Amino acid sequence: MYSIIIAIDGYSACGKSTLAKTLSQQLGYAYIDTGAMYRATTLYFIRHNINLNDNQAIEAALAIINIHFEYLDGLNTTFLNDENVEQAIRSIEVSNLVSEVAAIPAVRRKMVQQQQQMAKTKGFVLDGRDIGTVVFPDAELKIFLTASIAERTRRRFKELQQKNTIITYSEVLENLQHRDHIDSTRKDSPLRKADDAILLDNTYLNKEEQLSKVLTLVESAKAITSTKQ
Ligand code: DC
Repeated sequence: MYSIIIAIDGYSACGKSTLAKTLSQQLGYAYIDTGAMYRATTLYFIRHNINLNDNQAIEAALAIINIHFEYLDGLNTTFLNDENVEQAIRSIEVSNLVSEVAAIPAVRRKMVQQQQQMAKTKGFVLDGRDIGTVVFPDAELKIFLTASIAERTRRRFKELQQKNTIITYSEVLENLQHRDHIDSTRKDSPLRKADDAILLDNTYLNKEEQLSKVLTLVESAKAITSTKQ
C-alpha cells in the first residue's frame, strides 16, 4: 500500500492536532506536531531570558536546543533536551510569546530543517502553519483547516478549563486573534493556504464527520500517487 505525506495547516485552535493525531492512528502513520517544536523553543527562550532582538543569543540557543518526540502511554510527547515538556509548552506564558518566536527567520530555518529530516520517508502526518507551503510543498495531500473564531475560542476555552487553567473566554479570544494576526502577517513563511490545499471548514462538523471526509481524501491521494509510480 502506498504511504504519503499529509500536511495539515490552519489557524490556531481549529482542531489540526486532534485531526492529525486520529488520522495518524487510523493510518498507522507517524505524527509530527510542528507547533510543539516552536513552543519548546519558546519555553527555552523564556527560561533562559533570551532577548528576541539578540540574533547572536538566538543562534547560540538554537545550537543547544534539541527537540524530539516520544510516545508515552500512547500519547505523542514533546521533549526539550531530553526533558518531558509536554505540559509546560501548553502554558499561557508560552502561548502568548510563541508567535513572536516563530516569526524569527533563524528559528524557522532550524525547525523546518528538522521537520524535513524527521519525515524523510513517507507515512507522516504533520500539522502546522507552513507545512504545505514550505516544509513539504510536494506533500501528496494538503488540507487547510478552518473554523469560525467563535467556535475556535469556545473549543480552546473548554480544553483549558478541563485542565483547570485559570483563564477567561476573552483572554483566550485575544490570544487566538493575536496569534492569527502575527502568524499570517509575518514576513518569513506566513500562514496561508497552499494553492493546491483542500479547504475544510469544520465549524459545523463533529470529529467523526471530519475524519470520514479526510479519510476519503486520503484514499484519493493514495490512488493518484499509485498511478504516478
Ligand atoms: O499549533 P500551535 O498552536 O501549537 O502552534 C504554536 C505557534 O507556533 C503558532 O502560533 C504559530 C507557530 N507555528 C508556526 O509558525 N509554524 C508551524 N509550522 C507551526 C506552528
